[in-house]
Amino acid sequence: MSNKKELLWQSRFSEPFDRDALRFSSSVHVDKALFREDIEGSTAHVTMLAEEGIISEEESGQIIRGLEEIGAELEAGDLVPHWEDEDIHTVIENRLKEKIGAAAGKIHSGRSRNDQVATDTRLYLRRQIGTLGKALQGLQKTLVSKAETYRETIIFGYTHLQRAQPISAGHYYLAYFNMFRRDRDRLTDLLKRVNISPLGAAAFAGSTLPLNPARSAELLDFDGVFSNSIDAVSDRDTVIEFISVCSMVMMHLSRFAEDLILWSSYEFGYLEISDAFATGSSLMPQKKNADIAELVRGKTGRVYGSLITMLTIMKGLPLSYNRDMQEDKPPLFDTAETTIESVSIFGKLLEHTTLKEERLAKLTADDLSLATEIAEYLVKKQLPFRDAHRVTGKIVSHSLMSGTALPGITLDVYKTFSELFESDIYAALKPEASIKAKKTHGSCSFDSVAIQLEEAKKLL
Ligand code: ARG
Repeated sequence: MSNKKELLWQSRFSEPFDRDALRFSSSVHVDKALFREDIEGSTAHVTMLAEEGIISEEESGQIIRGLEEIGAELEAGDLVPHWEDEDIHTVIENRLKEKIGAAAGKIHSGRSRNDQVATDTRLYLRRQIGTLGKALQGLQKTLVSKAETYRETIIFGYTHLQRAQPISAGHYYLAYFNMFRRDRDRLTDLLKRVNISPLGAAAFAGSTLPLNPARSAELLDFDGVFSNSIDAVSDRDTVIEFISVCSMVMMHLSRFAEDLILWSSYEFGYLEISDAFATGSSLMPQKKNADIAELVRGKTGRVYGSLITMLTIMKGLPLSYNRDMQEDKPPLFDTAETTIESVSIFGKLLEHTTLKEERLAKLTADDLSLATEIAEYLVKKQLPFRDAHRVTGKIVSHSLMSGTALPGITLDVYKTFSELFESDIYAALKPEASIKAKKTHGSCSFDSVAIQLEEAKKLL
């Protein structure tokens, strides 16, 4: 099957377009990924044209059947887009001409590639938002199941990457659940702005033909139609917003990745990644690396790069359409693929991790991270918190100097720091008691985690 190399705009020119210039400006190798959206958009446009009497029913029937066939050819790889066709819109229109002849030319009545590509992009965004939302939901389900499994497992919580206080591991997993919940909210909010049709704006000024943009919008399942034809073709806000939401998703994943990498290290030793999701070293036989988490962390940089790429492409562009905007597709496509893949693989990675509960129980049993418990014990006995903090600091210093863990210090010694200490201090100095005693809303206690879990399940 051959492509007829004919550019859509050539007739005004006396010389053919320079081949190097054409090769430079061709975007087929990238925008061929939009062929389904392009056919969907064209089908709606042509249906509307026939309903409004701009073309005949027969012509629209011919065009739509031709488009269906072309879609199948592209899907099957029987029609291979060629760079000389400039872009996917041209590939499809030229192929249609081969199939049905002159009637193919009517497809573009009242339409420009400017509103066409803006429509394709919104259809693409809508699909990717759906896929990313589902992937995030899947990851959230995995987090809920981890939180359930490890609700009563005690881990260290950190601030400044220093052991801070013992917490329920479930609480930790649900922190990430909430981050991804906000990401999903952002996608839902973005969809409102994405799902507006630019079709019918034509080049940028509208058309003298009696188009019905509301009808093509309806056929394409858009929630509304553009208000201003200049804005309709010039706007790439939704592309930038989508990449921005993806940047946030990747930022969240990269933090999670970092935790998993640290926790799986020998030094931390809190977590085991199963062999199916770990990699080795070609030189050091003992190595077990968390490459999947590292790759997710690394790919975050690529997505941020795309955000800056898009903001920079759009910066200072005069209205309305400019060819610069064709450069939106590589960063957009790469971001969508990278983010969706990263979310999906991260969920799988997480399923392949287990907490080393025995080691964690040993580590948390008599750690200095119980110091806050001592301070709060004194506060409950009416010592002002600042004094309680000072007293406890001295006890910590004593513990470090004498090499005695906090629960190992005798009551006599505790009393030298404050008369308020009684034998019930030892009950407070258990990580489990510390966690159970947390009373506040959304805290790390096992009960609070159970409540959070119920909420999380309702949201899913
Ligand atoms: N390939 C172009 C793009 O993706 C389509 C629009 C071309 N319009 C034009 N006036 N040259 O942006």
